[in-house]
Amino acid sequence: MKKIAVLTSGGDAPGMNAAVRAVVRTALNAGIEVYGVIRGYNGLIRDELVPMTLRSVSNILQQGGTMLYTARSPEFMTLEGQQKAAEVCRKHGIEGVVVCGGDGSFRGAQKLSQQGIPCIGIPCTIDNDIGCCEYTIGYDTATNTVVDMVDKLRDTCQSHDRCSVVEIMGRHAGWLTLGSGIGVGATSILVPEIPYDFQRDIVDRMKYTASLGKHHFIVMVAEGIGDVQHLAEDIEAATGVETRATVLGHVQRGGRPSARDRILASQMGHYAAHLLMEGKTERVVAVNNNVLMDFDIDEALAMKKPFKSHMFRMAAEISI
Ligand code: ADP
Ligand code: F6P
Repeated sequence: MKKIAVLTSGGDAPGMNAAVRAVVRTALNAGIEVYGVIRGYNGLIRDELVPMTLRSVSNILQQGGTMLYTARSPEFMTLEGQQKAAEVCRKHGIEGVVVCGGDGSFRGAQKLSQQGIPCIGIPCTIDNDIGCCEYTIGYDTATNTVVDMVDKLRDTCQSHDRCSVVEIMGRHAGWLTLGSGIGVGATSILVPEIPYDFQRDIVDRMKYTASLGKHHFIVMVAEGIGDVQHLAEDIEAATGVETRATVLGHVQRGGRPSARDRILASQMGHYAAHLLMEGKTERVVAVNNNVLMDFDIDEALAMKKPFKSHMFRMAAEISI
């Protein structure tokens, strides 16, 4: 193997840069040339590639976002787009691609592999919703960001004896809401994985905790659940507690990666580059119980991640 490429795709995640750095340096150390692909699969289709050196990835380990930019590429969803991308790889002599992204990006990697270009996926998403992998790159940083911001909300919420309803990212996944909800001691946590009952899980809980002396309340709501402004109005009407809604939004995807994400991304990038250099293809890197491993992409995409319902129940028990 003489030449590989690395790209970032889909929603960005803090730690993507650390993964890119690790891929680039691991391959260069082994005498392999590396191209950085600009803006995900769009960059492959449009032939936007830059040769990477040891110094191109200096000073990015600690930065959020992705130095390679990212994109969602409708063109790559088509066979023609995938063929074009593979053609560009062949033109440059690229023998393998490391794809940093979420499950959508891995589906893309599957398609590119089918066009004869070996691909390895590195799970990068704040949603932590990759079935084969306990923790994805970006999840830890985003959890810390949310905890930090909701701590601030709590200050004002507490001063006014209010209820704060906070929308957390994760259209189909409640991991970030669960983790940060535990971290801030939310009175109620609503996630798409577990059905909720407005009266039982919010109103009755607020009244019960109020009877135990609580004066302010935090309700953490995953994005996929619905409109938090509406929910806040319903809560105020049902409890009489003044309630405000806050949508945290894309700040959750930004910021300097935590130490944990930097370490995970460095390990995964190094591991992914080695998989490619060993001639492997259609693999996804994962970490489970602190051990790095890899899975076939098909298998990885088919795997369902059991939601940590025991953590959910634990949160309800102690946040009173
Ligand atoms: P994420 O990787 O964060 O889940 P997306 O789901 O938006 O993000 O996917 C990122 C990109 O991956 C898409 O814009 C598209 O270019 C590519 N992709 C996603 N699904 C497929 C698919 N089934 N076939 C080919 N490419 C895909
Ligand atoms: O996948 C990460 C994520 O931030 C989800 O939590 C969210 O639903 C989605 O991306 C939003 O994506 P965007 O606003 O970039 O289209």
